[in-house]
Amino acid sequence: MPLLTTRNLVARYGDFQALFGVDIDLGEAETIAIIGANGAGKTTLMRSIAGVLRNQADAVRFDGAEIGALPADEIMALGVAMVPEGRKLFPSLSVEENLLIGTYGRKQSGHWTLETVCDLFPILRERRHNPGTALSGGQQQMVAIGRALMSNPRVLLCDEISLGLAPVVIKDIYKAVPAIKAAGASIIVVEQDIAQALAVADRVYCMMEGRVTLSGTPDSLSREAIHNAYFGAHQ
Ligand SMILES: Nc1ncnc2c1ncn2[C@@H]1O[C@H](COP(=O)(O)OP(=O)(O)O)[C@@H](O)[C@H]1O
Ligand SMILES: [Mg+2]
Repeated sequence: MPLLTTRNLVARYGDFQALFGVDIDLGEAETIAIIGANGAGKTTLMRSIAGVLRNQADAVRFDGAEIGALPADEIMALGVAMVPEGRKLFPSLSVEENLLIGTYGRKQSGHWTLETVCDLFPILRERRHNPGTALSGGQQQMVAIGRALMSNPRVLLCDEISLGLAPVVIKDIYKAVPAIKAAGASIIVVEQDIAQALAVADRVYCMMEGRVTLSGTPDSLSREAIHNAYFGAHQ
C-alpha cells in the first residue's frame, strides 16, 4: 500500500474549482514529481495534502489513516512537511531561528538537526546568525528546505524549489535530494522544469487545468506525450 494517496481530490476557492478529482500515489521511499504549467493546480494539490485546504476525510490517506479533513497543524505533526512556494521565511529571524521553527510543529527525533541540516547546506552554518533577508535566493531556499527537514518528516512536499534560481544554484539544491531520501523521507516535488523533474523523480504526474493528464516513470513518457499533457494536444 502506498504511504500517501489522494483519491478523487477536489479543491475550490469560493466558486472557482481548482482540482477535479486528482488521484496520486506516493510510495514509501519514493520521489514523485508533479509537473504542469502555471495555474494547473500544483500548489493547490500541495496545500490540499498539507491540510491548508480541507477536504473529505478519505480524499487523502497517509500511512493507512484518512487525513483529508485534518487541519494543517495535525498533518504536520503526523510527519508531512511542506517547503512552500515562495519560501516564506521570517525575515527578521536569523537562519538558525528560521530552522528551529521547523521543530515547533513536530518534535520528532531523527536524522535532521541543526548540525545535519548545516552539513547538508554548509553555507547555512556560516550564515546561521544572519537574518533571512541577508541571504541570496538560493540560500533562502536552503533555509526553507532545512526548516521542513527539522521536523524529520516522513513526507516532504517541495513546491517549486527551483523557481527564480540560477541553474548552478538549482543543481546545488537538487544535490541534497539523495541525502533527504537516505534519511527516510518520501518526496513530492512540484517542478515547472520538466528536465529537472524527470531527472529527480521515480515517477512523474503531469497536471493541466486541475486534472492529472499523464503519469508514469520518466523513461516511459515520450517528449510528445509530456508536451501534450502539459499544454494540451492542440497547441
Ligand atoms: N487563493 C486563491 N483564490 C482563488 N483562486 C486561486 C487561489 N489560488 C490559486 N487559485 C487558482 O487556482 C488555479 C490553480 O492554481 P495553483 O494551484 O496555484 O496552480 P499552480 O501551482 O499549478 O501554478 C489557478 O487558476 C489559480 O488562479
Ligand atoms: Mg504553484
